[in-house]
Amino acid sequence: MTISAVPATTFDPAGPHAPSLSRLTDPELYAEGDPHPLWAWMRAHAPVHRQHAGELPAFWSLTRYADIRAVYQDSTTFSSAQGVLLRPAVVGPDPGGGLTLALTDAPRHKQLRSLMAGWFNTRAVRALEGYVEAAVRRVLDDAAARETCDFATDIAGRLSLAVIAHILGVPEADHDRLYRWTDEAFAAHSSLVSHPDIVEYFLDLLYRRMEEPTGDLVSALLHGTVGGELLTEIEVVLNCENLIGATENGRLALIGGVQALLEHPGEWRRLARDRSLLPGAIEEIMRWTSSATHSVRTATRPSELHGRSIAAGDKVVLWLPSANRDEDMFTDPYRFDISRTPNRHIALAVGEHFCIGATLARAQMRVLFSELLDGAYAIELDGPGRRVASIAVNGPQSLPVRLRAR
Ligand code: HEM
Repeated sequence: MTISAVPATTFDPAGPHAPSLSRLTDPELYAEGDPHPLWAWMRAHAPVHRQHAGELPAFWSLTRYADIRAVYQDSTTFSSAQGVLLRPAVVGPDPGGGLTLALTDAPRHKQLRSLMAGWFNTRAVRALEGYVEAAVRRVLDDAAARETCDFATDIAGRLSLAVIAHILGVPEADHDRLYRWTDEAFAAHSSLVSHPDIVEYFLDLLYRRMEEPTGDLVSALLHGTVGGELLTEIEVVLNCENLIGATENGRLALIGGVQALLEHPGEWRRLARDRSLLPGAIEEIMRWTSSATHSVRTATRPSELHGRSIAAGDKVVLWLPSANRDEDMFTDPYRFDISRTPNRHIALAVGEHFCIGATLARAQMRVLFSELLDGAYAIELDGPGRRVASIAVNGPQSLPVRLRAR
């Protein structure tokens, strides 16, 4: 099977028969099938849909752009502290609940975010650009030295991990093993905290930073305070794990982005000719790939949406790729158009939990795509790849390419 960022949409959303919506929580749909027809049908016919699938708790699905945006922006009614991803009830609550950046509510969230914000703002990312450029050249040269390579692991994975590890303060000599462990955890679709080597590694790193603080993010987490108190060791480790895990979205956007450009050679040529299109192309890649598949929120009080009553304690699932194909928001939403204007996608969420890595993710894309467009390398797809079998993130699990230095 040839993979595609957006497989062909053959389902007629206006058709009379409701599709089987329980498939939405089947990871195989994202690996082998096409969730977009289901979302299109839901946007048209069931924009606030209650479902109960297998081991997952019952939840409401939201698929329209405007509704998803409104929920993100009302963090008083829709809390993040009980988890932001669907988890089987048997595995219990997310261990990061109330502790990690993504899984806290105001006012704690704001304080925790301000501890980290200085590492991800425009100034910090500009200062990091030289490191990103060197990392991009290194992974491309290594990959070009081989006959064939997997863009997902050999290029995007190594690059994303190197950059976040550098920010956290992981010494260069440890990048390879950290990469191996995170790769194993992602491949097993397990949480990074369930990988004992990762937890042990960060505990060891934080003990070293306790004795000798440096200018890295681990030191900042260790010595900064939230609510007047230092973070506990487990909070520091969980936040490191949260940052590495969140980077997976950036990695998938890089892979999905290069795939989208290679599958739309006209757009690639347009971009190569006119580099002023690059910022817009990056936004379109984020809309198109929408690598974060869903966010969960838990209602803190009763509310009503399109006549449906959402009770306190109910889980609400926001399907981001659906919002980013909403025909009420985007003209010709299934077309990949690097000059799309306006392009108010919400791949990075909106509101208080807007992706803290947004500037970094854009910078990595800019540097990597610029290097590929500059003509120093020739790149082409090299056979079919696979898509990730997950309901949390989506995109190519592997993307075989032929890359050579010219
Ligand atoms: C194109 C790439 C990316 C996409 C599509 C993306 C998407 C998202 C989304 C949708 C959220 C909101 C989650 C929620 O509240 O339910 C989020 C939050 C977050 N992202 Fe990203 N992300 C990307 C890249 C990155 C990178 C490279 C990092 C690394 C630092 C990162 C770190 C985070 C963190 C820590 C949060 C939690 C922010 C908070 O709750 O205040 N993301 N991201």
